[in-house]
Amino acid sequence: MVEIRTERLLLRPASMDDVPAFHNILSDAAAMQFWSTPPHQDEAETRDWVAAMMAISPGGGEDFVIEQDGRVIGKLGLFQFPEIGFILHRDAWGRGYAREALTPVLDRAFSVHGLACVEADVDPRNAASLRLLHGAGFEETGRASRTWNIGGVWSDSVYLTLRNGQRDVG
Ligand SMILES: CC(C)(COP(=O)(O)OP(=O)(O)OC[C@H]1O[C@@H](n2cnc3c(N)ncnc32)[C@H](O)[C@@H]1OP(=O)(O)O)[C@@H](O)C(=O)NCCC(=O)NCCS
Repeated sequence: MVEIRTERLLLRPASMDDVPAFHNILSDAAAMQFWSTPPHQDEAETRDWVAAMMAISPGGGEDFVIEQDGRVIGKLGLFQFPEIGFILHRDAWGRGYAREALTPVLDRAFSVHGLACVEADVDPRNAASLRLLHGAGFEETGRASRTWNIGGVWSDSVYLTLRNGQRDVG
C-alpha cells in the first residue's frame, strides 16, 4: 500500500502502533455519534478494529491513517471497495483536513483502482459528512429508515454516490 503526502497530511497504511491514537478517537462519543458502532469501551476493541483495517486485501479496499505533523488524527479511505468511510479526532475538525485527505483517495479510486463509482452511507443528521461529500461531487441516490441499530437505537441512512467523471474536488 502506498503513502500519500498532501500539503499538510501524510496518508499511510495502519500499524498496531496506531491503536492508542485510534482508541482515543473511537472512544469519543462525539466523534462516534453517527458511526456504525457505539464508542469503543476498551482498547481490545480498537485493536481488533485496527487489525481489520490492516487486513484489508489490496483488491478489496484501501484505507488510510491520516497523520498531521506526526500525530494520528484519523482515518479516511475505501474500507471495502467502493465504500468510503472517515473519522477524525474532534480536535482536528473544521480545518479542511477531511477534504484534503479525500481528494487523493478519490483520485486513486478512479485512476488506480479503476472503480466506476465511490459510495457512502451517511446518517441524515451528519451535516459535516454530507457537506464534505456533496462538496466533492457526491450525489444522493436514496434514503432508508432504521438501517442501523447502534446500541439499541435505530438510525437512518442517506446513500450517496460519486461516479467517475463527476468529480468536483479542487
Ligand atoms: C466528517 C468529518 C470527517 C469531517 O472532517 P473535517 O476535517 O472537519 O471536514 P472539513 O474541515 O474538511 O470540512 C468539509 C466540509 O464540511 C463542512 N463542515 C465541517 N464541519 C461541519 C459541521 N459540523 N456542520 C456542517 N458542515 C461542516 C466544512 O465547512 C466543509 O465544507 P465546505 O468545503 O463547503 O466549507 C468529521 O466531522 C468527523 O470525524 N466526524 C465524525 C465521524 C463521522 O461522522 N464520520 C462519518 C461517518 S459516515
